[in-house]
Amino acid sequence: MATSSLPFVSLFLLSSLLHTTSGTTSTSSGACATSPDTGSTLRIIHAFGPCSPLRPAVPLPSWADFLTDQTERDTTRLLFLNSLASTGTGKSFVPVASGKQLLQIPNYIVRGRLGTPAQNLLLAFDTSNDAAWIPCNGCTGCPGGSPWFNPATSTSYHPVPCGSYQCNQVPNPTCYPRAKSCSFNFSYTASSFEAGLGQDSLSLASDTVSSYTFGCLQKVVGNSIPPQGLLGLGRGPLSFLTQTKAIYGSTFSYCLPSFKSLNFSGTLRLGTKGQPKRIKTTPLLLNPHRSSLYYVNMTGIKVGRRTVAIPPSSLAFDPATGAGTVIDSGTMFTQLVRPAYEAMRDEFRRQVNAPVTSLGGFDTCYNGPVTIPAITFLFDGMQVTLPEDNVIIHSTYGTLSCLAMAAAPEGMNAVLNVIANMQQQNHRILFDVPNSRVGFARELCT
Ligand SMILES: *[C@@H]1O[C@H](CO)[C@@H](O)[C@H](O)[C@H]1NC(C)=O
Ligand SMILES: *[C@@H]1O[C@H](CO)[C@@H](O)[C@H](O)[C@H]1NC(C)=O
Ligand SMILES: *[C@@H]1O[C@H](CO)[C@@H](O)[C@H](O)[C@H]1NC(C)=O
Repeated sequence: MATSSLPFVSLFLLSSLLHTTSGTTSTSSGACATSPDTGSTLRIIHAFGPCSPLRPAVPLPSWADFLTDQTERDTTRLLFLNSLASTGTGKSFVPVASGKQLLQIPNYIVRGRLGTPAQNLLLAFDTSNDAAWIPCNGCTGCPGGSPWFNPATSTSYHPVPCGSYQCNQVPNPTCYPRAKSCSFNFSYTASSFEAGLGQDSLSLASDTVSSYTFGCLQKVVGNSIPPQGLLGLGRGPLSFLTQTKAIYGSTFSYCLPSFKSLNFSGTLRLGTKGQPKRIKTTPLLLNPHRSSLYYVNMTGIKVGRRTVAIPPSSLAFDPATGAGTVIDSGTMFTQLVRPAYEAMRDEFRRQVNAPVTSLGGFDTCYNGPVTIPAITFLFDGMQVTLPEDNVIIHSTYGTLSCLAMAAAPEGMNAVLNVIANMQQQNHRILFDVPNSRVGFARELCT
């Protein structure tokens, strides 16, 4: 496995990076201050970050361990995204976790309240997923650490009946003769999940979604377990986004804070209100086989002022094979198909013009100070020039810095270019589905 040397490498590289958040065990007082969610805007918390409400839970990885494992996690997520891209099942629910860790679980979480009286929940949001999950009371195999939902104490909870539209959207629905309610299960690699389909009132910031349909997790078999609920922001029929179309008009934006930042102000803003009016945009492309993925048309990459020679086939959108470029909130480091990555990297190395060292998943690292050229992603109708913070991962001690992108792992038959969250940090990314566009604007939400 190409990633086997990563843990050592990343630990070295990232533990020093983490020095900016040192003393992370003392997350008291102002450092992790949270202002309340207001209007339709939710504060974003990094699930494994120093200010995460999940942190006290024992089984969770430490922040350093989390980052250490991230490149491996990315590899698995890439596998997952590529499998989505190439084998659309038409079903709205897709596996949310697999393998030995929280592999496809997105990293950014928001707070929500479900039921009457309201029960507090944590929800991870994922732009490449349609699933709506909540770990429910009595679940066997669900992890601790995150609050579970208890349907029995909510007066507004209803099981979704068999034969309903919603029940037909889930994989392998099973209707118990007596309960008349829709249940379903599915498996993915070594794990299987069982859930009942339910409806209840979900509140986010100042808004309430009165009949939110979700999978109430009842059983998880295997070692992959979602630590919290999942808020699918994909475009499929049962996603949160589709369910709340009347309220939010299938529009949202987010600004993701830097991993380094304790005192961030990242937000997820739902709906058309308060979205940037003037923002560079590029058309959204729809792959009918996989409606949940946000494809865009990346047409080229510039390093400094030079446009890199990339074979057009490496960037071309092809719904039949799933090839193309997606914007994803759950992958950490941008991964490009090999010919695209290598062309960009070679030009980057040429311009930096200093001895290159490699460090596990990062193949372009430098010791000592170097001048970093800007990297610009060229999209149809929009250019996004990344500042150094989105391009380079630095070690605070020592002087090592690495290009924070990678080629898709070999032997994966990868066709997707994935623009990941390290490259999105400190930008507002607008997903405007009705107008079929994605926007990018610089915004400091460190
Ligand atoms: C967090 O940010 C606020 C406003 O930007 C600032 O006043 C405060 O001092 C910061 N706190 C820390 C711990 O950096
Ligand atoms: C899930 O699968 C198991 C094994 O095939 C089966 O016994 C069970 O009834 C299924 N449950 C649901 C809700 O489909
Ligand atoms: C992508 O953009 C290029 C350049 O504008 C255009 O020629 C091409 O048709 C676009 N591809 C898709 C799938 O829209």
